[in-house]
Amino acid sequence: MAEIAIIGGTGVYDPHLLGNISHIVQDTPYGSVEITVGKYEDVEVAFIPRHGRKHSVPPHLINYRANIMALNMIGVKRILATAAVGSLHGDFKPGQYVLADQFLDFTKTRKNTFYEGGKRGVVHCDMTVPYCPQLRDVLMQVGEEEGLIMHNGGVYVCTEGPRFETAAEIAMFKRMGGHLVGMTSVPEVCLARELGICYANVCIVTNYAAGISPNILTHAEVLEVMKKSIKSVRRLIMASLKYIPEEKKCDCAKILDEIGV
Ligand code: HPA
Repeated sequence: MAEIAIIGGTGVYDPHLLGNISHIVQDTPYGSVEITVGKYEDVEVAFIPRHGRKHSVPPHLINYRANIMALNMIGVKRILATAAVGSLHGDFKPGQYVLADQFLDFTKTRKNTFYEGGKRGVVHCDMTVPYCPQLRDVLMQVGEEEGLIMHNGGVYVCTEGPRFETAAEIAMFKRMGGHLVGMTSVPEVCLARELGICYANVCIVTNYAAGISPNILTHAEVLEVMKKSIKSVRRLIMASLKYIPEEKKCDCAKILDEIGV
């Protein structure tokens, strides 16, 4: 059973680093999800490309609840996610990696909880430390050993998309303490927490954000930087798999005590 999952963001679609691959379709109350399951060395891993294999699902239409519930149903306890992001911070440069430690949520239309009353009840989930510190430590250590420029900690501003931001929005986010901007980490990280799953977000800086970059932004520019980073991203994620200790030393699953699962 795969206890670790990779959710691949923009540019990370290919599961073929895994051996013994099989494709399963997991039904959930929110829809069916195709999951690739395979092995990397001795570690069983599940893989979902967040935007579909051909980048055909925009950020605001991703079925986040189905994806996270499907991973939970096959026994996943930890998720390593990747995300292309724009940078609001001079120290976070294109081609570098940031492990987000906080987020600011500016999404508008997304289903962001499994607990909507009725049978599942109402749950107010702690989100003090949204991204798992234990997973971040592993990624940080492996990234440095791999010679990548890594930053442990950064505030991820999640926008609704699919458009990029205005220069004024970015100036506001910066004044509010944002360091990175992307369109997918919320509600993904929140839904994982609601099921007690540890979640880390490897942010790949692809551009300076609107109004900081001297140019207008294009998706092609994001893809171009991702293409250059892809080998390193894979190395970072794959090499980290075998250093994730079995024992959890974080509080990510504490929510389950409150819910009584
Ligand atoms: N804004 C939002 N999402 C992004 C960006 C950006 O500048 N770059 C990559 N994903």
